[in-house]
Amino acid sequence: MNEAAELDLQGLVRRYGSTVAVARMDLAVAKGELVALLGPSGCGKTTTLRMVAGFVDPSEGRILLRGRDITRVPAHKRDMGMVFQSYALFPHLSVADNIAFGLHRRGVAKAEVAQRVARMVALLKLDGLEARLPRQLSGGQQQRVAVGRALVINPAVVLLDEPFSNLDALLREGTRIELRRLQTELGLTTLFVTHDQAEAMAISDRIAVMNQGRLEQLGTPREVYERPATRFVAGFIGRANLFEAKPGAGGGLVSEDGIPLDAAGGAATYVLRPERVTLVAEPADGANAVSGTVEVLSFLGNGVQAVLRLPGGRALLVEGAAALADRFRPGAAATARWTPADLTAIPQV
Ligand SMILES: Nc1ncnc2c1ncn2[C@@H]1O[C@H](COP(=O)(O)OP(=O)(O)OP(=O)(O)O)[C@@H](O)[C@H]1O
Ligand SMILES: [Mg+2]
Repeated sequence: MNEAAELDLQGLVRRYGSTVAVARMDLAVAKGELVALLGPSGCGKTTTLRMVAGFVDPSEGRILLRGRDITRVPAHKRDMGMVFQSYALFPHLSVADNIAFGLHRRGVAKAEVAQRVARMVALLKLDGLEARLPRQLSGGQQQRVAVGRALVINPAVVLLDEPFSNLDALLREGTRIELRRLQTELGLTTLFVTHDQAEAMAISDRIAVMNQGRLEQLGTPREVYERPATRFVAGFIGRANLFEAKPGAGGGLVSEDGIPLDAAGGAATYVLRPERVTLVAEPADGANAVSGTVEVLSFLGNGVQAVLRLPGGRALLVEGAAALADRFRPGAAATARWTPADLTAIPQV
């Protein structure tokens, strides 16, 4: 289907009895590209990854690696490095030997093994832990050993299933930047599973947003954020105010809860991102303006998130600079405003 793709998933389906774990996946990954599989728990991310790795047989569809059909090739002959969701280290091997495992199996010379292991240890900040056994490590340290073990063999494809789920926020951010740097430097074609949308945005060339076993949208982080293809994507990636715009009595558009809207298009579902909303104290008339009561003000460090409760019941999300908290108090009346350019139509609902 896609000639240039390094890894090409074509119509992959996996059923377990009457359960459909993956309803249909078509995904072409270019050489050196990092694609995140992002979606809620149970949407089929791990099942997809395990089909690519060769641990689960697809019920339908094909997997191509550099144009070669590998659907029936056994896992150990696929040239893939994988980190499982439960990172499964060899319990009787030290950190260094766990990382070196795949290199020994491939007959790499001793001196080169030592050098490549040392590089992984340094990159993944495991210095000083080389001689320890997995049970002597924290969960986060074990995860980093698993990542090192997968990357050190320089595989054709790297498959990572929530590799940083046990790391604290700071270490997680640092480690994913390191992973991204290493992945780019080595040109590793990578599938990265996460249910953390911020992590997917930070690390990916493209994001495959999955829902109930299907691919909802495939695009760059900016594309899926700024031009979500479905309601689900709009709500899952970042925060969103959604409006069902229909023609109103006066000729313009009006939302399902009676807010007059002025948008570039016609009747559609529109997404309005919280950071595009301006909050003012003075009342305003006309379209793209609505008054309500400030209900919650949350300080986020780099800004403030506010909830404006509207008379119709809607909780409108607003994000702005920290100064917002100086201008408004919970219980205060306020008006939210935005421009037609801030309303993005969602192509399909
Ligand atoms: N071996 C199995 N037998 C039966 N059902 C399964 C099996 N493996 C997975 N499933 C089901 O398939 C669906 C997809 O599971 P999968 O593990 O791929 O989800 P996931 O997206 O990785 O979720 P999470 O984020 O929680 O890890 C789920 O409903 C799950 O219960
Ligand atoms: Mg999973």
